[in-house]
Amino acid sequence: MAIDGAAIVGVALCGHDGRRGYVYHLAVDPAYQRCGLGRRLLDECLNGLRSAGVKRVIIMVADDNQRGAEFWKRQGWEEISGAIPMGIDL
Ligand SMILES: CC(C)(COP(=O)(O)OP(=O)(O)OC[C@H]1O[C@@H](n2cnc3c(N)ncnc32)[C@H](O)[C@@H]1OP(=O)(O)O)[C@@H](O)C(=O)NCCC(=O)NCCS
Repeated sequence: MAIDGAAIVGVALCGHDGRRGYVYHLAVDPAYQRCGLGRRLLDECLNGLRSAGVKRVIIMVADDNQRGAEFWKRQGWEEISGAIPMGIDL
């Protein structure tokens, strides 16, 4: 979590299943974007996952989120070929 005083201005959630890591819900308050906070939150996640021995990390990006996709690509992330995202409503 990134905070400015009492305000939460950025969040990221990550975890792993012992093999792969996952990052969820990375978001930075629009007023604080393009200041490096997103990258810093992501670095914290990746450092934690790295120290847990995780070798590969995955993120799901909605296909209409072009700005989000651009952020990930600029950080070196690549699209996964040979995988189909699947889900079910409960
Ligand atoms: C994606 C998001 C978290 C990025 O946060 P941020 O704090 O603005 O990112 P940073 O300032 O750390 O940006 C790091 C680099 O990523 C790239 N980048 C970030 N936002 C970008 C954008 N909108 N377009 C193109 N490149 C972008 C740039 O290379 C940037 O470095 P620069 O500012 O020196 O050019 C933020 O835009 C956000 O909260 N978006 C809405 C939620 C969202 O889409 N989350 C991702 C879900 S998959």
